Amino acid sequence: MSTAVSITGLRRAFGDRAVLDGLDLTIHRGEFVALLGASGSGKTTLLRILGALDGADGGEVLVPEARTIVFQEPRLVPSKKVLANVTVALPRGQSARGLKALSEVGLERHADAWPATLSGGEAQRVALARALVREPELLLLDEPFAALDALTRLKMQDLVGELCRAHRPAVLLVTHDVDEAVRLADRVCVLRDGRLVTDEPVGVDHPRDPGDPAFAALRRRLLADLGVHSRTPAESGVI
Ligand SMILES: Nc1ncnc2c1ncn2[C@@H]1O[C@H](COP(=O)(O)OP(=O)(O)OP(=O)(O)O)[C@@H](O)[C@H]1O
Ligand SMILES: [Mg+2]
Repeated sequence: MSTAVSITGLRRAFGDRAVLDGLDLTIHRGEFVALLGASGSGKTTLLRILGALDGADGGEVLVPEARTIVFQEPRLVPSKKVLANVTVALPRGQSARGLKALSEVGLERHADAWPATLSGGEAQRVALARALVREPELLLLDEPFAALDALTRLKMQDLVGELCRAHRPAVLLVTHDVDEAVRLADRVCVLRDGRLVTDEPVGVDHPRDPGDPAFAALRRRLLADLGVHSRTPAESGVI
């Protein structure tokens, strides 16, 4: 399997605090990795470095040229209609590609709408279409479902899973939701004290059911790695 992302000994400090401190991570082409970690543990910092929005203070980071980020909020350009938002980073005359991407997220009928008229979930699907239309080799997702209601979040998870299986980018999904990580990812990582304290394959059969004992056992282990010990499997897995 060839490598899409290779990080060795990554260090990033703010003042005298090293937020990332000797972090190693490899992501293979087409692999879906979920990254869990407490608030302030450095997940967004890592994604920003991978997206070249921030620099490292040490270590080595190798990423593909074609990479895109989807944030928690859609960050659409309010003065551009939906289709123009999707094609904003493409050369001119790529409307057909934009429309295809919009149809993949079920929004082709909204091509001519203004962003302000969309629901939160729709706007986030436009952001996803804008990321996928560039055919990234690496897709960086920073809690893309966190602001959505529970039902929309589940639908978005299914959509992202489907789209990633169809397009096969390498994916790094940051989430606070342990169940989301286990449902979607090939591998799960936990970031703590500047490095990955957990990095393991998800050995749960598809379709992944939270009631499956293997699912519940991995959830318990991940919650323990995150410092949450008292949860029962019936609880949500959201930290
Ligand atoms: N530009 C900056 N200047 C100073 N400190 C920063 C900067 N960016 C991030 N930090 C600090 O680095 C730490 C990690 O921040 P980061 O945003 O990566 O956390 P996170 O894991 O994404 O948290 P959350 O789950 O709350 O989004 C925090 O303590 C934050 O205050
Ligand atoms: Mg963050």
